[in-house]
Amino acid sequence: MSELAQDSLAIETRSLTKQFGSHKAVNAIDLAVPTGSVFGFLGPNGSGKTTTIRMLLGLISATSGEVRVLGQTMPQNLNSVLPKVGALVEGPAFYGYLSGEANLIRLDSADQFASSKDRIERVRAALERVGLSHAAKKKVHAYSLGMKQRLGIANALLQPRDLLILDEPTNGLDPQGTREVRNLVRSLASTGTTIFVSSHLLAEIEQLCSHVAVMSAGQIVAQGKIEDLRKEGETRIRVSTPDLDAAAAVLVALGLEPITTMDAQLRQEVVAPLHDSKLEGDKIVAALVKAKVRVSGFAVEEPSLEDRFVSLTGEGFDVVQ
Ligand SMILES: Nc1ncnc2c1ncn2[C@@H]1O[C@H](COP(=O)(O)OP(=O)(O)O)[C@@H](O)[C@H]1O
Ligand SMILES: [Mg+2]
Repeated sequence: MSELAQDSLAIETRSLTKQFGSHKAVNAIDLAVPTGSVFGFLGPNGSGKTTTIRMLLGLISATSGEVRVLGQTMPQNLNSVLPKVGALVEGPAFYGYLSGEANLIRLDSADQFASSKDRIERVRAALERVGLSHAAKKKVHAYSLGMKQRLGIANALLQPRDLLILDEPTNGLDPQGTREVRNLVRSLASTGTTIFVSSHLLAEIEQLCSHVAVMSAGQIVAQGKIEDLRKEGETRIRVSTPDLDAAAAVLVALGLEPITTMDAQLRQEVVAPLHDSKLEGDKIVAALVKAKVRVSGFAVEEPSLEDRFVSLTGEGFDVVQ
């Protein structure tokens, strides 16, 4: 088996496309998911995330394009790749009248790659990793949604995995369940497993992921390290003042392009993008004060990922659950 290089890719697609009738649900995407990353696959509902994930796992065939998972072409190498990949694609079907442990035993038995000899140890270890040991004997119908989702992740973790693919793992969960799943993903990531996680929630991806690809209408509109994408956004300064014209004149004299606007409380303020200006906040404040502009508030706003994504996709993302 070949060692994966530091800069190797856990998932790579070239011009991957899926067409349903005349509609391209996934349109020529080039994904590059670095080994060891926690990679967010972000996009509004209907943008093609689940369709892509189904192709990655060989659950549906691509119309055209190429897929490599863990360095091997898919679906040709399905049998050698899938045992190393844990997946949670839409809620797994559990029997409510069976305990969590009994459900995992059933699912493990159905896995042609899993030996029966150490089944119970394997199931208990998976329950332990998702924090469900205490509820192992409890019937699944008495589980909360967050516990069911964690059981689904335990199922994905029955074998040691090089890659975990989670399709919207917090969808439909209450805030407590969301926190449980988020913490679990974080702890799994800290063990070095590559995690590919989709979401339509920007905040989710921002809190969990090192890298992101942004989907819009079947296409990738941005991809890379979250920090790099954030920097592509715009830093702005915001001045609250009763002396709007005087403040704007000072900013113009400093080479900025101010606009007058309203803040959330409908107070007038002057806002200017800093672009690649080397100006620092304290110099701007000093210039305003020197010109006797009354400054009641001043802020340098770091670029937000949300602004960046809205400008890339032309749509807003749900920022909170
Ligand atoms: N089996 C299918 N047949 C026809 N259209 C489909 C099918 N699956 C998905 N689609 C369409 O493909 C697009 C992308 O869907 P999906 O991949 O589920 O998006 P997401 O997971 O980002 O919400 C949607 O327009 C959806 O209606
Ligand atoms: Mg989906």
